[in-house]
Amino acid sequence: MLNAIGLQGIGVRRFIDERLPPLRDQRAVVIVNICGTTVHEYAELARILSDAPGVAALELNISCPNIKEGGITFGCSLQGAHDVVAAVRRATPLPVIPKLTPNVTDVASFARAAEEAGADAVSLVNTFLAMAIDVETRRPRLSNVFGGLSGPAIRPIAVRMVYECRQAVRIPIMGMGGIMTADDVVEFLIAGADAVQVGTANFVDPFIWPKLLDGLTAYLARHGHGAVRDIVGTVEIPDRSATTAPQRIST
Ligand SMILES: Cc1cc2nc3c(=O)[nH]c(=O)nc-3n(C[C@H](O)[C@H](O)[C@H](O)COP(=O)(O)O)c2cc1C
Repeated sequence: MLNAIGLQGIGVRRFIDERLPPLRDQRAVVIVNICGTTVHEYAELARILSDAPGVAALELNISCPNIKEGGITFGCSLQGAHDVVAAVRRATPLPVIPKLTPNVTDVASFARAAEEAGADAVSLVNTFLAMAIDVETRRPRLSNVFGGLSGPAIRPIAVRMVYECRQAVRIPIMGMGGIMTADDVVEFLIAGADAVQVGTANFVDPFIWPKLLDGLTAYLARHGHGAVRDIVGTVEIPDRSATTAPQRIST
């Protein structure tokens, strides 16, 4: 999926008044994804949400432009990512989960920066910056020109990034990017994710969750595991005498 829907939040006050109560009534565990265009905005949102009953954790969408730094995305600058996480850390007692952008060369260094700034976990990946052109009209398919790519096309890259972050940090990782089946869930867990998220697949099948859960349960039973944590980070990298870790290859 290539989307450029923007961030159409209804505002934090209306979110607390209108959206949170029904979620609370369902006894859902609510992780609120927040974004801002200044460090102060992130911290302010964190402060306000900390007082709202029923918020379990905050996920920081750091794929937003930093207006004080000429619009460079917070999550594409180690300093920007560190500053946002540190400010939110100071502003809230809630668990803080920065969501890393894949649009960087070395995502593991961003996971490390987040951990150093006090993050309780990291989630990854957000969408990949992408573009599509209608060849008949020669115009970009999106009026925004660029959009965010998600879904199965990005999964192998997301899995690689989760694996790289697992080697870099000790905090839990929430993995995502193109999960469509229970095997995809298992792949992320084996790569090193402690939990997963599913986005795009909900547009294809809004009832995908029970199928993923049933498939995951069946996988664990088939392989004699009692809990998800038994398979987290259990990827077996073949021992290739000369190299101990997968090498970046030139393409
Ligand atoms: C329509 C759409 C809206 C999204 N909105 C947000 C958002 O508001 N905040 C955010 O951090 N990520 C957002 N994402 C990114 C997803 O949460 C997810 O990181 C990404 O799409 C990769 O997972 P997936 O392939 O399972 O969708 C959005 C993705 C899509 C497709």
